[in-house]
Amino acid sequence: MKLKNNPLVRLTMSVHPCLDNIAFLDWICRKKLQFWFFRVLRFGFSPELLSKLAGSGAPLSERSRLHTLATSYLRAGNTVKTTGMARTNHADQCVLDEAGKQESPRLLEVGVSDGSSALGLIEKRELFSHIALSDRYPYFMMKRNALGCRFYDVDGQTHGRKVLGLLINPINPISADVEGCTKIQSINPALVEEHGIHSIDFYDVFSSVESIKYDIIKCSNLLNLIYFDAPMIVSAVSNLLKSLNVGGCLIISHNNAKYTDGEAVICLRQISDGKVGIYHEINDHELLDILKSSDLTD
Ligand SMILES: C[S@@+](CC[C@H](N)C(=O)[O-])C[C@H]1O[C@@H](n2cnc3c(N)ncnc32)[C@H](O)[C@@H]1O
Repeated sequence: MKLKNNPLVRLTMSVHPCLDNIAFLDWICRKKLQFWFFRVLRFGFSPELLSKLAGSGAPLSERSRLHTLATSYLRAGNTVKTTGMARTNHADQCVLDEAGKQESPRLLEVGVSDGSSALGLIEKRELFSHIALSDRYPYFMMKRNALGCRFYDVDGQTHGRKVLGLLINPINPISADVEGCTKIQSINPALVEEHGIHSIDFYDVFSSVESIKYDIIKCSNLLNLIYFDAPMIVSAVSNLLKSLNVGGCLIISHNNAKYTDGEAVICLRQISDGKVGIYHEINDHELLDILKSSDLTD
């Protein structure tokens, strides 16, 4: 049996020391001690960090920076909500190039985390007739009890619990009664207070289909082989194409040190319903061969 499948090892791996203090997290990152605190000491942070930050009274620019930092250490299903401002520059340029060719396109960004990676495009919102920001985990729910807090995902699945300074992630998430929970929005306060965007829509790349289709869909740092295997990625891309107009494009990008400039992009165009072609690529994205050799219709 592989060590990570051993029940005792899995139980141990699901428990983390948890000190939900943003100054502490900021200090770890500024001192570049992530390896020691997250890998060796296995510290974890919970969504409560976001709710503490919201009430901190810090100036907007600082709250926004710290919100992005805190969000980046939260789990979301099989993924982590890691994000940052101005990290998807190549992908954004591909979106802008396409927006220049279409008249007032509708833009959907999927898997936006706190939305900060979409800020560059939001600042150019006059180019678009509509911009929608979406994520499978747009908010968390929290319920306090005498010993700590319990957290749930948007679909009421258990996300974790915090008790006596420990964060315990569920080994097998289960559905729970979320009556009486407080919502913790993952949206960055800069989007709310500077851009009037008040929420992130629910959208699951594997199953959601928009009734009013989009002309451009951007998907950054979600579809990659760290999080999903190749068949899952192909199924997500096929599903995304169902929300895309004919002639529209899907821009998939990945930030990783293995790529030149730290970012790679694939741009697909829906030539006719169910028929797509890759019309542009930057820095040899790891999904290039997979998408070239796949039937993206289902
Ligand atoms: C690594 S973050 C990327 C955030 C942002 N796009 C960026 O590039 O900075 C991945 C995001 O995908 C979201 N996510 C995970 N599974 C998803 C799914 N099935 N459908 C849509 N979003 C999902 C997570 O909640 C998380 O916010």
